[in-house]
Amino acid sequence: MKKDERTDKFGYGKIGIIGLGFVGLPLALAFIRQGFDVIGIDLDGAKISTLNEGRSYLPDIEDEEIRRAVSSGKLAVSEQYDDMASAESIVICVPTPLSPQQTPDLSYLTDTCSRLVPLLRSNQLIVLESSTFPGTTKEVVQPLLERSGLAVGEDIFLAYSPERIDPGNKQLTIDKIPKVVSGITERCLDRVYKLYSQVFEQVVPVSTTETAEAAKLLENSFRLVNISFMNEFAKICEKMNVNVWEVIEAARTKPYGFMAFYPGPGVGGHCIPVDPLYLQWKARQLGTESRFIELSHLVNESMPVYIVEELKRLLAPSKSISESRVLVYGITYKKDTPDLRESTAIPMMQLLIHEGASVQYHDPFIPSVTLNDLTLNSVSLTEAALRSTDVVLIHTDHTAIPIDSIVSYAPLVYDTRNATKRRSGRSKVAKLGGGSALSG
Ligand SMILES: NC(=O)c1ccc[n+]([C@@H]2O[C@H](COP(=O)([O-])OP(=O)(O)OC[C@H]3O[C@@H](n4cnc5c(N)ncnc54)[C@H](O)[C@@H]3O)[C@@H](O)[C@H]2O)c1
Repeated sequence: MKKDERTDKFGYGKIGIIGLGFVGLPLALAFIRQGFDVIGIDLDGAKISTLNEGRSYLPDIEDEEIRRAVSSGKLAVSEQYDDMASAESIVICVPTPLSPQQTPDLSYLTDTCSRLVPLLRSNQLIVLESSTFPGTTKEVVQPLLERSGLAVGEDIFLAYSPERIDPGNKQLTIDKIPKVVSGITERCLDRVYKLYSQVFEQVVPVSTTETAEAAKLLENSFRLVNISFMNEFAKICEKMNVNVWEVIEAARTKPYGFMAFYPGPGVGGHCIPVDPLYLQWKARQLGTESRFIELSHLVNESMPVYIVEELKRLLAPSKSISESRVLVYGITYKKDTPDLRESTAIPMMQLLIHEGASVQYHDPFIPSVTLNDLTLNSVSLTEAALRSTDVVLIHTDHTAIPIDSIVSYAPLVYDTRNATKRRSGRSKVAKLGGGSALSG
């Protein structure tokens, strides 16, 4: 569909996307695929240069798609906000991390709103996509935007739609994931519903922005609680000498009332360990408790220590950790994603270094990493490199993992992901949650 057909038929005009990261860039391309023109803003000059050179910095997005979008003029990217005045709809996808005190840090969001205020004009729709605590859109964003003198619901329209993208998932692309939308007023909801219906296969309207904000926190808190429970259960299985992975496979044959979650080295990323703490903060503000979140957070935080203790146990008595060479396979928080945010590999490697171990890593997505003041480069997984370690610790099971080489050449493998499932080799293999390589 040609640009003018889309603009004339639906009157949506240009889309402005603020924050071109894991959420904003795929969203920009989803709009472009449906014929929209997109203006993308990011304060990171390196990202803007990369895009303007026709290259992608996300593995899920091909260079070719960026090159076509930029050269055709469908995607115009900049570090400057000025062009936002010409956008009919503006979507905010900036980070919402935690402060050092583990409380919500909305500074990126408030900075975005302040930059937008002088540029806002009548009839624009502003959609917040960043994950945040219930009340943010109405109590934080609305008053900031209204400093423009434009009233939400009359002059401009304000909506919240939580992002549910699953980086690295090639089947469930962004447009196939049902999109929850909400608005400050009925007209705001109507605007976002109609716009997003052009891009997403299913749009799910809810009655308030607080409902949509809470839905996102529920989804991610649900994952944290269940994965942390599985990690606790894995530790119990270990003690019982039962293979947790086999237990889960058996339990998931139940056709109702059970949903499989899997143990691992602890959850990471910008969402699952962070969003529940936004909910916890909100609960505290309201004078109530969130004990499940508190406990799950503690279990999650304890995983690096647990895994290092397991390595010590497995290496003993022939070697102490301080005289051991540990090679970590995969350090990102999630497979096939170049994202180190909140990855438990970082505290785990720091702990190993602190204990005196000699630590190396391999990750096809991360060429180098700095831990305190030590910079490590990803090493090649040659036969010699594998043979010369004392243990390979599988932290992230990237699709490219050379599992046959690892179980053939490493003297000892500690597998936190069940990547060695039904693999045999010469290595001694131990898994988080018990079980040998051959038992599933
Ligand atoms: N990554 C995910 O899988 C995922 C999934 C669902 C929701 N979310 C949520 O979406 C939001 C964005 O996450 P992300 O993973 O895309 O983060 P990201 O760090 O990958 O991208 C955010 C981008 O915003 C830019 N930025 C920061 N401040 C800015 C400003 N004032 N103006 C313009 N650009 C600015 C940064 O340079 C960065 O490129 C967060 O709230 C996150 O919780 C993320």
